[in-house]
Amino acid sequence: MNICVIGTGYVGLVTGAVFADLGNDVICVDNDKEKIELLNKGIMPIYEPGLKEIVQNNVEDRRLTFTTDINKGVRISEIIFICVGTPAKNNGETDISYIEEAAKGIGKALNEYKIIVNKSTVPIGTGDFVREIIEKNKEKDINFDVVSNPEFLREGSAIQDTLAPERIVIGAPTKEVAMKLLELYATLGRPMLITDIYSAEMIKYASNTFLAMKISFINKIANICESTGANISDVTKGIGYDSRIGSSFLNAGLGFGGSCFPKDIKSFLHTAKKFGHDFNLLNSVIEIDNNRATHFMNIIREKIGGFKGKTIGILGLSFKPDTDDMRDAKSIEIIKMMLSEGAKIKAYDPVAIENAKKIIPNIEYAKNSYSAAYKADAIAIITEWREFKLLNMEKIKKEMKRPVIFDGRNIYDPEKMRKTGFEYYSIGRR
Ligand code: UDX
Repeated sequence: MNICVIGTGYVGLVTGAVFADLGNDVICVDNDKEKIELLNKGIMPIYEPGLKEIVQNNVEDRRLTFTTDINKGVRISEIIFICVGTPAKNNGETDISYIEEAAKGIGKALNEYKIIVNKSTVPIGTGDFVREIIEKNKEKDINFDVVSNPEFLREGSAIQDTLAPERIVIGAPTKEVAMKLLELYATLGRPMLITDIYSAEMIKYASNTFLAMKISFINKIANICESTGANISDVTKGIGYDSRIGSSFLNAGLGFGGSCFPKDIKSFLHTAKKFGHDFNLLNSVIEIDNNRATHFMNIIREKIGGFKGKTIGILGLSFKPDTDDMRDAKSIEIIKMMLSEGAKIKAYDPVAIENAKKIIPNIEYAKNSYSAAYKADAIAIITEWREFKLLNMEKIKKEMKRPVIFDGRNIYDPEKMRKTGFEYYSIGRR
């Protein structure tokens, strides 16, 4: 099939590369000229495991091309995926101006019947909006259909998630249109749900806000564990055995960041309000999450006797492991608070340092975990990168001025750490 993907961010680039890998001819369009030039040279704009290889292979096999020419991309394709960014406005509402721009471009280029698929996370009703914009901008009397096909990939495992998604949701106006998408996804052999466009758009928000709610729920339980002496690891295991609850997405820690959860909850609250609903449960999810960094800071401050003049080694900067994405990363908030209280910071992350420097330029960046630990009064684990779990802790201890670890993601065993000679504090555990 000939496919056009508009937008080469996480969703667009990964979707385009995977569709090409499945044997389709894919043309990826982006209006960022520099990005397209880099992609044409085989340089990835983001760090995502396996992405570079899959892009290179498919470019070499000529199934995957990149262009800034939306007109060309639309004209030669049967299906057009809109995968542009949908950032948040100050009031929490989603800014769909990039969607509008893409829809205008599609309308102007429309030369024969096409299916336009919205993959970006968009407020309920955006399918209708895309239809209207294309109708207004099309230059010939040509028919088209709009589909909603939300994306559920996670950063850090985006390729795998796209090749083997837990479900594929297709919100289509008719069965015939849905069948076309079904055909495209059939080779993946994954469960598919065919529904209407509004429900498909809703499924994305309901999924993300539910997952965020699980995280805030367990984080609040962790706080209560700290006060009562219960152990969050055992509590999580104990509730997770109940198949109605499940054990995934219940890791207590510093809360959620990234480009999706924080923005999607606010956007969904906004949509709910627009339709006359106060979804206060989601306000609590945000409130609990907003408190994570402060709570962690309070623990550290109390144990080390204030930050003034102290050197803190920070391990992990990205919002989660296996990505260089710093959007809404807890590290930013925590480091800024530490700096404002007079701490000196030495930070290390396996891949996010270059992106972090643009946001927090005034700290020292270390070459590895051991140099981040050098002469530190304490270490704070912010992101649970696998390599931190495999560190030589004897060596870390020797580097430090005082062997204290604040583990914001519960990656170590408290008993083992104490045996190694660390003063060790984690989330919801003694
Ligand atoms: C999320 C959704 O999972 C994905 O389906 C959607 O398409 C986009 O948003 P992503 O933001 O890439 O994906 O990361 P995810 O793995 O979901 O983690 C989000 C945040 O929650 C991270 O900051 C992570 O550290 C945190 N988290 C996750 C927890 O604190 N505890 C958990 O148990 C799980």
